Amino acid sequence: MTVITKSLISSEETLDPSDWEEMRSLAKRMVNDMFDYLETLRERPVWQPIPNEVKESFRAPLPLAGEPADTVYEEFRKNILPYPLGNIHPRSWGWVQGNGTPLGMMADMLAAGMNSNLAGADHAANYVESQVIDWCKEMLGYPKDASGLLVSGASVANLIGLAVARNAEVDVDVRRYGLQETNRHLTIYGSVEMHSSVGRAVEVLGLGNKFLRRIRVDEAYRIDVGALQEAIESDLKEGLRPICIIGNAVSTNTGAIDPLHELAKIAAKYGLWFHVDGASGALAYLSPELRPLLVGMERADSLAFDLHKWGYLQFEAGCVLIRDSKAHRRTFAPREDYLKHADRGAAGGDIWYSELGVQFTRSFRALKVWMALKTYGVDKLGRIIRQNVEQASYLAELINQSPNLELMAPVALHVVCFRFTAPELTNTQLNAVNEELLIRLQESGVALPSGTRIRDRFSIRCAITNYRSRREDFEALVYHVVRIGKTLLAQGWAEKSE
Ligand SMILES: Cc1ncc(COP(=O)(O)O)c(C=O)c1O
Repeated sequence: MTVITKSLISSEETLDPSDWEEMRSLAKRMVNDMFDYLETLRERPVWQPIPNEVKESFRAPLPLAGEPADTVYEEFRKNILPYPLGNIHPRSWGWVQGNGTPLGMMADMLAAGMNSNLAGADHAANYVESQVIDWCKEMLGYPKDASGLLVSGASVANLIGLAVARNAEVDVDVRRYGLQETNRHLTIYGSVEMHSSVGRAVEVLGLGNKFLRRIRVDEAYRIDVGALQEAIESDLKEGLRPICIIGNAVSTNTGAIDPLHELAKIAAKYGLWFHVDGASGALAYLSPELRPLLVGMERADSLAFDLHKWGYLQFEAGCVLIRDSKAHRRTFAPREDYLKHADRGAAGGDIWYSELGVQFTRSFRALKVWMALKTYGVDKLGRIIRQNVEQASYLAELINQSPNLELMAPVALHVVCFRFTAPELTNTQLNAVNEELLIRLQESGVALPSGTRIRDRFSIRCAITNYRSRREDFEALVYHVVRIGKTLLAQGWAEKSE
């Protein structure tokens, strides 16, 4: 019998290394290389184009036989590592990105090593997530008995918040009948500045984009509360069924903060669900000086936010908090026998997070959040968030001082939109010059803002959610924008655009 077992074992394959020492030394090299990489970030371009031969290398045939791990790692070093998006660089402010931290990198490694599945069951990782959710509630002024869930990002957090809103507000069993049994069209309200993920969530939830009322904004790009009330009244008169108001904390394009307190009051007046999309702005609440700007956010029935943006953590780490934990559970709780909880044993445990969202298998993203909050402390995160806001004001100041630059929207928090300008140019010419300017700036590797259009004016846009940025980085940005802008004028770029 022993002989048979031995021979079986020797013929069975595994994915564990055949030589653990060899793998361990490769792993040490990987960690060392990544620390060197992070320590010397500033010395490299923020972004650089990917050469064609590198792109070509990703059209290789399916590998039927494997190759040594160190050979594959060398390919990573050669073809992948040098061509990042650049979001971890000190002069990256495009879209709304995050840096990630060296500690977060190691936490992700530990989580991957454990490879825990946070669908449910009784194991430590679930308690870590539970702890993290409790901390998130406390740090954002949410009640203790609210519930929450870590998700990939604010897009999914918005989807979950709105799914709970829909099911809670409609008086039919939506899980059984969908929206087929509702006899009135349901409407949702937010500003024209809402993030596209909200529109997508509304589509996925079968509510229809037409019924997502996009309310106009004021001169500071905040939702116009008068227009909002008119829209609700008008829909009520038409026999429609308003269910939810969405507030931006803050809006992606211009960084405007909707008057959340006002929105909470209007939602209460009409008995509507109040959802806040705090993807990039909610964590400003961690700074006592900035908190008053977000007053009203803590009254939201559901709050979506990202720890991978202004929480500076590795992707993916989004979160949704839901005030009414029962409504949250009712929206997603499974009915299958194979998911029944036991009183004891591995299938014990109170909270099975797969019962609170759309994902079943879930990664241990909670570990990096837990480690970060414990190691850095919430006060320090709040201070760095405030530092970013001060940097945004400093950048706005530099722009205002330059005769060649103009601000395109008020700076409420951390988003700064501006453009290169010259008095003799038309808006069409300015658009063309600034579009080209932005591409040249990105290709120069000096800095990475992104672009947007504000009232048909192309703008260079910085969302400063970067703990590595220093004041001199913004001075460099301004210097190079003006330099490239002047070069474009000298090259007759404005005329070429016509
Ligand atoms: C206001 C807002 N909501 C939602 C999102 C989507 O977040 P995520 O990319 O984490 O899904 C973003 C992304 O920038 C955002 O700015």
